[in-house]
Amino acid sequence: MKFKYHNPVRLVFSAGALSRLGEFASQYGQRALLVTGGGSVKRNGTFDRALKSLIDAGIPVFACEGVEPNPRITSVKRGAATARENACDLVIALGGGSVMDAAKVIAAAVLYDGDPWDMIIHGQPEPHIPAQALPLITVPTLAATGSEMNCGAVISNEATQEKSFVSTECLYPKVALLDPELTVSVPKDQTAYGVCDLITHITESYFNGTGDTPIQDRFAESVILTAMEYGPKAIANGSDLNARSQVQWAATVALNGWVQSGAGGVGYPVHMIEHTVSAFHDITHAAGLAIINPAWMRFAAKTSTPKFTQFAERIFGLAAKGSGDLDCALAGIDCFEAFLKSIGCPVRFSDLGIDDRLVETYAKETLRIIHDENGLLPARPPMTEADIVGVLRAAL
Ligand code: NZQ
Ligand code: ZN
Repeated sequence: MKFKYHNPVRLVFSAGALSRLGEFASQYGQRALLVTGGGSVKRNGTFDRALKSLIDAGIPVFACEGVEPNPRITSVKRGAATARENACDLVIALGGGSVMDAAKVIAAAVLYDGDPWDMIIHGQPEPHIPAQALPLITVPTLAATGSEMNCGAVISNEATQEKSFVSTECLYPKVALLDPELTVSVPKDQTAYGVCDLITHITESYFNGTGDTPIQDRFAESVILTAMEYGPKAIANGSDLNARSQVQWAATVALNGWVQSGAGGVGYPVHMIEHTVSAFHDITHAAGLAIINPAWMRFAAKTSTPKFTQFAERIFGLAAKGSGDLDCALAGIDCFEAFLKSIGCPVRFSDLGIDDRLVETYAKETLRIIHDENGLLPARPPMTEADIVGVLRAAL
């Protein structure tokens, strides 16, 4: 595969790195908008420590609090208004993926006079893909999305029941400050969801790629195996800083573009379907992934059998009778689903109280928002509406 790789984010990974926030902030701006979520950072002292570091560096701070999980466009508008009113020239995200994603779109919305929802690709004829944004520093408090070191953001619109993304160069953070100590307070369920999310980022490129990418495959497998080894340790003992560190690094590398480079991935079908279901039910992102991914895998394994057989052998140590051994491929998916269950993830929609009433709508909506020139969901194999419905039904 031909490919280009460029990730301009300056990454600092160290326990205690939060104390350096002011030092980095002062390199990129003079007045900061500090974006946070529903209060975890206030309860565990992270907010006060961030504030102290910024104030010590002489940076006035204006707060945008209360960004919700599955961040809403209304929060983006509120944050952009606060940044404008206070002439902020820097945005700092202190929180999980929801906070980081909202902060990215706020950073671009401050410099855009139109409706920020224009920037989210949701099936409109001409999305406004932003070309400029205020500088952004990400300080993740939850290992999951990889948003800290990539240029994507996922935003929900409650009014229209849509959830979709924007991904463009100007949304790369300037600095990602990764301090695994900030993640020790993440509860067991969110830790497990983070593990599931990061593994799904890897499986999306692994199974939707060209198939002849041995180096990328082994990077991918290494991230999955590491997450499967240390994830359960972080869940069992949240204070295990080594486990937290391994999971956090795994989450970052899982979606900073490196593992995906040259892999020829054509899409993120599990994510695209999950976003639609999430738009209707406001479910936790990775809970949806844990339900949809094994069902999608069983669908895709029929055509991509050798890759799924490789997964079964290398991740779960199963013995295949040749690369076309579909039984082995399916057994590997069973093992994967059992792993997700073992860490506490739901694996059927019924676990979340979601029934079959809207499956056709989810499929139509997914395809309305993203499709290739043939009207299919980009994936290997590309998916028709009936394929998506089939996967959703298998996951009920
Ligand atoms: O809101 P607070 O009070 O901070 O609590 C959060 C929230 O309730 C809590 N939390 C975060 N850090 C904590 C903590 N609780 C205790 N201690 C801490 N240190 O965890 C809950 C979930 O937070 P959230 O940010 O929603 O989780 P996550 O990081 O999984 O982000 C999910 C969002 O990211 C999007 C998802 O669609 C979803 O909207 N994604 C973003 C991607 C990207 N930008 O690259 C890719 C992903 O595939 C994903 O789509
Ligand atoms: Zn994800």
